[in-house]
Amino acid sequence: MRNVLVVNPKGGCGKTTVATNLAGYYASKGVDCTLVDLDQQKSSYQWVKSRPGDQPEIKISTDLEESHDSKRVIYDCPAQIHLGLTTDLINRSDVIVMPINPSVIDHRAAFKFIFDVRGMIRAEVCKRIKIGLIANRANPAFNSYQELEKFARMMQTPIVTTLRSSQNYVTAAERGLSIFEMPRQKVATDLDQWKSLTYWAEGKLLRHRNDINASGKTSERVEAQITL
Ligand SMILES: Nc1ncnc2c1ncn2[C@@H]1O[C@H](COP(=O)(O)OP(=O)(O)OP(=O)(O)O)[C@@H](O)[C@H]1O
Ligand SMILES: [Mg+2]
Repeated sequence: MRNVLVVNPKGGCGKTTVATNLAGYYASKGVDCTLVDLDQQKSSYQWVKSRPGDQPEIKISTDLEESHDSKRVIYDCPAQIHLGLTTDLINRSDVIVMPINPSVIDHRAAFKFIFDVRGMIRAEVCKRIKIGLIANRANPAFNSYQELEKFARMMQTPIVTTLRSSQNYVTAAERGLSIFEMPRQKVATDLDQWKSLTYWAEGKLLRHRNDINASGKTSERVEAQITL
């Protein structure tokens, strides 16, 4: 079993989008997956319930204490998560992904949280855990992106991937789908941006610069290996 924590106390940064699409990724690969929706808004729960019957099953839970026997368990956290719950979740997790929007307001909001999480990670009990940022709704050409890069360096936390602002996420969510279940041609750019994220979820950091081919796209060979 492998547990992935999707967390950021800042509201609306993309936690549910990342959690549901990661669940969709595993489901599309035939991996038994449970999504744990810890948010009272129940957005992930509603998304799972709205999935078309012909799509691969994703198990859903809203109870942290329920035991899960899936190969992959993804926690979708609420905004304004308190430190007690964060500590509990970190102790259950193998890897942390933190979607963040490039904006100084969001960087400031993330600072204390990452600082606290790093402190917990340094503690013996959860040394093995890695935390990575996902630059969400981001454009590397904007100054705010360079500010995010600076922030990531200062926090010694890698930007695992950069996800563009894409209507494909909105359309997929409306249909109870992930981008991995949309027509490939339509979502090719988004799928490409997800490769290093799927890698990270499996506990590996993709070395971007070495793995980008001449056309600027991440090469096929970096498809994450899922070890069950
Ligand atoms: N990369 C993206 N491109 C386009 N729309 C996006 C993207 N990421 C998120 N969104 C949209 O932004 C809104 C907020 O995203 P989401 O619900 O995933 O955030 P959240 O962090 O889970 O919010 P909350 O803190 O309220 O739980 C949603 O309408 C979602 O569809
Ligand atoms: Mg959410």
